[in-house]
Amino acid sequence: MRDELKIIADIFYAKIVEPSHHLNINWLRKEFLNLGIKDENIEHLYILNAPLSREVWYYTLLKMYEEKKLDAFLNAVQERIGVVDLGTAEQYLESLGLCHKDGKFKLKTFNIAVLVSGRGTNLQAIIDAINNGKINGKIVVVISNKKNALALKRAEMAGIETFYVPSKKGIERENYDRQLAEIIDSKNVQLIVLAGFMRILSPWFVKKYKNKIINIHPSLLPSFAGLHGDGVHRAVLEYGAKVSGCTVHFVTEEVDNGPIIVQRCVEVKDNDTPETLAERVLTEEHIAIVEAIKMISEGAITLKGRRVVRKNIDYVEK
Ligand code: GRF
Repeated sequence: MRDELKIIADIFYAKIVEPSHHLNINWLRKEFLNLGIKDENIEHLYILNAPLSREVWYYTLLKMYEEKKLDAFLNAVQERIGVVDLGTAEQYLESLGLCHKDGKFKLKTFNIAVLVSGRGTNLQAIIDAINNGKINGKIVVVISNKKNALALKRAEMAGIETFYVPSKKGIERENYDRQLAEIIDSKNVQLIVLAGFMRILSPWFVKKYKNKIINIHPSLLPSFAGLHGDGVHRAVLEYGAKVSGCTVHFVTEEVDNGPIIVQRCVEVKDNDTPETLAERVLTEEHIAIVEAIKMISEGAITLKGRRVVRKNIDYVEK
């Protein structure tokens, strides 16, 4: 997103915002205040009567984006300058994930595909988080390799398009995954969520969607990797671990080994059975999966090696 904001800052600087548009630091400061953002740097620039350089535009756009005021701010710019030159900016807006509709700038929705095999409680948590506004995104498709997965019913109830892609015996992994990809590619998907999808994905698929696939695993990885279902919790109890939990991670070719996005812990109690432990972990899974999708959709995280970290805030280019 940051690179894209740089592009639009350049456009503002070079094409849209000419002196005749009367967009100056005075106006910009008022807009910050109008949108309820108190900003020391802008106050400082205002005192200096600084020109609206590329850097100031970039700083402004980044700040607006982080404050979730980008679309409101762009609309304010438009009101001020009219629709002149907007056509020029349209393609840049496109690359920003923004669109210009009905005379307004809007953030395009973040499209999610969810792959499932079972009961779909994690899917439900995502649906609920979208409905209550916690995630600004849209599940555009739910795909299952199991015909009777309850998850498919949940998706249908929520009005989401569903596909059942049967995994016939002997079908090559990559061939199966190409069927998934065909559906996914027709939906302009930004993130693929494996929410209880009980199939290992081929290297081809994982490479094609590098850093765009996440999975939820019911243990604190790297402990108890490669297991699934109650098997994970049984192994935790047999080993005698005192804490367990869940992990949301990016999917890489090696199973359960990708960069960790979110982990949440639970206590392992003396009287736990695999079932009671599973239940406690599942409650945390529903929080973790939403948290991870939210961070990704907001462009709030980045990868440093295999570490997932929050993006630094260095507004002004050095
Ligand atoms: C969860 O425990 C998840 O960690 C694992 O599969 C299970 C899916 O549960 N990958 P649900 O279908 O979301 O209820």
